Order: sequence, then structure tokens, then C-alpha cells
Amino acid sequence: MRILDVITKKRDGFMHTDLEIHHFIEAYTKDEIPDYQMAAWLMAIFLKGMSIEETAALTMAMAKSGNMIDLSAIPGVKVDKHSTGGVADTTTLVLAPLVAAAGVPVAKMSGRGLGFTGGTIDKLEAIAGFKTTLSQDEFIRILQKHNVAIIGQSADIAPADGKIYALRDVTATIESIPLIASSIMSKKIAAGADKILLDVKVGNGAFMKNVKDAITLAETMVHIGQLVGRETRAVLSSMDEPLGQAIGNSLEVEEAIAILDGRGEKSLRHVCLVLGAQMLNMAGIESDVNVGYKILCELITNKTALNKFKEFIAAQGGNVDIVGNGKKLPQAKIKTRVVCTDEGFIQKIDAGQLGYCAMRLGAGREYKGQKIDLSAGIMLEQRVGDFVKKGQLLCTIHGNDETRIKEVQELLANAITIGNDYIPKTKLILGIIDQRGFQAT
Ligand code: URA
Ligand code: CA
Repeated sequence: MRILDVITKKRDGFMHTDLEIHHFIEAYTKDEIPDYQMAAWLMAIFLKGMSIEETAALTMAMAKSGNMIDLSAIPGVKVDKHSTGGVADTTTLVLAPLVAAAGVPVAKMSGRGLGFTGGTIDKLEAIAGFKTTLSQDEFIRILQKHNVAIIGQSADIAPADGKIYALRDVTATIESIPLIASSIMSKKIAAGADKILLDVKVGNGAFMKNVKDAITLAETMVHIGQLVGRETRAVLSSMDEPLGQAIGNSLEVEEAIAILDGRGEKSLRHVCLVLGAQMLNMAGIESDVNVGYKILCELITNKTALNKFKEFIAAQGGNVDIVGNGKKLPQAKIKTRVVCTDEGFIQKIDAGQLGYCAMRLGAGREYKGQKIDLSAGIMLEQRVGDFVKKGQLLCTIHGNDETRIKEVQELLANAITIGNDYIPKTKLILGIIDQRGFQAT
């Protein structure tokens, strides 16, 4: 098969066979196809699209380009949760110990963040001693004993996706539903879970800015899961304002602990409980999601979830003294209070802008491989719809660089607005997408 013919076929709007897709990906992974031919093919896909069958074939070809993890040594139904990415989105750190405490095995591979804030692995590195690399044997042993382990995604998980993503990033081919869906699903499938729960974020702080596109992306991923035999479900959740109070790595670890301790921001808690109840349902532990939600609430109230978190941190070598003593996490030297300049209702807290501010403070990466400042970030004290008085605390900036803090103070003035109009609270969960389609909640 000539690579040029494959590119021509897609350029002219025809459908590929599975064989053509597998061959293209396999040859590219082995450096047998140059970047310019892959780039041309990606642009053809971007412009002409892919059928669901082609998208599933691309997903499996990328999943099989590296190691396919076998988790069969772990008893129970392994359900992996994946968020398409948001701001103050600390759900994994809460959910992993919470659902593990309810009996769902959590065998998770997480990434580092590129963009606003660190990924789960960056956040866990804020905990002194915590090991994010384990041998396969250690990973399995910890899972068998504690029912939860989180490690960094090894370079050998879907390497074709890593190479293609880097190329998409510089060829204006990121924003394509088949390419995004296959990219996410290939990594989840290679990581070995039996079932996949997706948290698809929608809003100005998310990849998908509108509900229609977010539903299409979610439906595509659910359909891929169905075609390749890994049941997949998606929760559509709002990302117009940051989900929790904390944006930044240490701050988010502290917030996760607060949620597990029955304190903390109600929105983050609610989204975690909704996702957790879906995971219990998919794992076959509780068929009624309303009952599942209550079971998880009880595990928080009776401290089982918090104890599971301590057990998980200790098992991976981390300092458990951070629970109950947040000062043991990396602390910023400068903490600047930002107060409300007017009386009124909070009209907008722009998640995209807040994420950008946290990144400027050092909490996220502006380029790949950049070292991040684990102590930096923003702690929000108000939510959209809150009534505030002049002089009341709006948020606290945590940073180590005066110039950056000044810059962020100015950006915040536009990112957070106060006005006279009453604004209803944001609807957090917009719907569930499973094999039956979209159900509004
Ligand atoms: N996240 C991914 O892993 N891949 C994409 O293409 C987009 C978001
Ligand atoms: Ca308030």
C-alpha cells in the first residue's frame, strides 16, 4: 500500500479500511513515514472527518502501538475515570480513595498537565516522598493490598498518540472530534481498565466550549468503547467557572483532603459524588446511582474515605502528616488577598482566565517539560451568584514572584465581575451519555 494513496483517499473524502489505518499508524510509530505525510493525513482527517468505524480502528491502532497493560491479576471490575480537563478539577484525588473505599479497584495511570495547572501526577508530587513511578510488580502488589494505586503514564502507553499529538499541536489539527476521541480512548484502552467513565467538561475553561460539541465528543467516545468491547459512559459537566476553590497543585491536594474530610467546596464534592456513583454502578457494586451517592456520602462522614487516602499515600511512600497539617505541603512565600471592589452579585468567574492566571504564577506549564511551582496558585472564596460586600475577600493569590502576582491581580479584575443582576447558580451536571444516548439530568 502506498502512503500517498492513503492520503489521497482521505483528501478526496473516501473511507479507509482498518488495514490502511493500522498500517499508517504502525509505520509512523516505527519512523517509516515522515512527519509531513502524517501531517497531510491529519489535515485531511480534520477536513473530511472519519466514520465511527474508522475512528475505532484509529483508536485501536494507537492503543496497540505500545504496551497493552494487563490488569487481570487484580480481582473485580476495574473502572478508569478520565476528565477531559478543567480548572480547579481535583476529582481524581478525591475519587480514587473514595471509590476504592467502596470496593472499586482503582488502578490508575495519570498524566502530567500541559496547560493551566498540573495533572494528577504533578499534584501528587506536592506530597513529600510520594512515588509516582512503580515497577509493574509493585503497582500490582499495592493494588492487591490497598485497592488503589496511581502512577505516571509510562512512555510506552500508546506512543503513536504521543507522537501524533505533538504534530497536531503545531499543524492546527487538535480540534477534530475523531482525533480527540481516538487520542483519549487509545490511552485508556492501553492502560487496561475494563470499563471507562469519562468526565467531559464543557464551557469556557474546557476544551469543548459548547454543549453540542461536547455531546458529540462524548457520544463518539462511548461508541468507540462499544465497538472495541470496553463499556464507556460519559458525564457532561460544566466548566464555565472553576469547579473547586483551589487552582494550583499543593492547594488542590489540600482541597481534596478537605472534601474527603467532609469539608470543602460543595460543587467539587457534588461532581465527585456523581462520578463516584456512576463508577459504583459500572463496577456492579450498586445498581441505583442515588443509593451509590448516599453510600459515598457515608464513607466521607465516617472517615473511611479519608483513612483510605492516608493508606494510599503511605503505600506509595508519601508523608501522611499532610493530612491535618497543610503547612507540610509546599507553601508560597507571598500570599496576596484580593478583595471585592463593589457590592453585588458575582456575575462571572472566567475559568479559562483563572487557569491562565494560575499558569502565569507557575502552577502550570507554558511549554512541555517546564518545571512547575507546586506552591503557586489561587484560592477562590466566592462563586458565581454569591452576594458580596465591598472589601469582602474574593480570592487569595499564592506566588513567589512579585511581578507575576501584579500581572495576575490586573487580569483578575476582568476575569471576575460583580454586578447588580441576580445570577442563578451554575448547573453542574448537564447530562449522562451511555449506549442509549444522551440523558439530560
Ligand atoms: N486530550 C487528549 O488526550 N487528546 C486530545 O486530542 C485532546 C485532549
Ligand atoms: Ca460566598
